[in-house]
Amino acid sequence: MKDFSFNLSTRIEFGKGYVTKAGEIIKEFGAQKVIVITDKGLIKAGIVAKVTDSLQASGVEYIIYDGVQPNPKDVDCIAAGDMAREYGADFVVAIGGGSSMDTAKAVAALITNPVALPEIMKPYKVPIAPAPLLCVPTTAGTGSEVTSFAVITLTEEQRKSCMFDDKLRPEIALIDPELLLGVPGPIIASTGIDALTHAIEAYTCKLATPITDAFALHAIRYIGRSLRTLMYERTYESAEEMMMASLMAGIAFGFSDIASVHALAEAIGGYYDTPHGVANSIFLPVVFEYDIPANVEKHKDVALALDIDPVGKSDREIAQAAVEWIETLSKDVGIPTLKELGYIEPERFEQFADVCMINVSTPSNARAVDKQAYIDLFKKTYKK
Ligand SMILES: [Fe+2]
Repeated sequence: MKDFSFNLSTRIEFGKGYVTKAGEIIKEFGAQKVIVITDKGLIKAGIVAKVTDSLQASGVEYIIYDGVQPNPKDVDCIAAGDMAREYGADFVVAIGGGSSMDTAKAVAALITNPVALPEIMKPYKVPIAPAPLLCVPTTAGTGSEVTSFAVITLTEEQRKSCMFDDKLRPEIALIDPELLLGVPGPIIASTGIDALTHAIEAYTCKLATPITDAFALHAIRYIGRSLRTLMYERTYESAEEMMMASLMAGIAFGFSDIASVHALAEAIGGYYDTPHGVANSIFLPVVFEYDIPANVEKHKDVALALDIDPVGKSDREIAQAAVEWIETLSKDVGIPTLKELGYIEPERFEQFADVCMINVSTPSNARAVDKQAYIDLFKKTYKK
């Protein structure tokens, strides 16, 4: 067993209708001025009002920044950070998926650190503890409500960069599974496979520990049995299991790592703005298959957690069956292939492989991966 430390400082509040508890929880912190970080779609859908009504009822003053975009941008973090500083915000609330939560982490850090964003966009470079952050996830995917990372797109460089520091971990994850029931099917699909990718990469990568393994395997089980049900039947129980899976996968990769699926996904996401979950769904089966020889046992465990029938199969065949399971899931829920995205330029694969090589999670991948291996993975995925 390798040495590790594990300190999940985030308080988790999980339950039906819990979104309305935001005000009373924030009041416990003695916050005076809250900035809410979200997007226009969630305001229109009435979800932001559920939170702001509870702030009002608790007598907490707030303003709203609603400019968050998918694949959160540095320019938006700066704009929201300026707005928060000008307002004198002392508490941050994120409402949304990973984009809102990651933008909010940057804003919380900018409130207390009197520097420009690029200065804190480096590993362990948030000198002063950020303003407290409460996250209300509206998708089951990112797990950002319990992680100490924020993945931000550097718009000029057209690439993604990662802020990470233990201090960035939110104070509170306020999770209301009911919010998932109104999410459109394609978003449930792509974010759900993002959560599956977090769990699989956390479990199979080199930084996995027994504690992260436990969270990851249980997340895989929940996603295996509940993602399709949530998509097609919208039961509350499936929403609960997917929200819990996303959270557990977040804890798993937050204390282990993600790996090459994310490196590939972030390379094209940073360049073409491909939705994060879609990009992960596209690369997950190909990387999983590439990684099997590095640890057949663990890849077999993933297949068993997905309830794949092991009878009559060797360990290798059981693991291989997970590749087909993931491909079938992606097809069933309408994820396009890399080619079907329609804008991918294969002549850029070498350039993207360079971006993958500087991804901080590349060394964690279960099987060693070099630039040529990344080019081959791009080519193999493009042929599918
Ligand atoms: Fe992800």
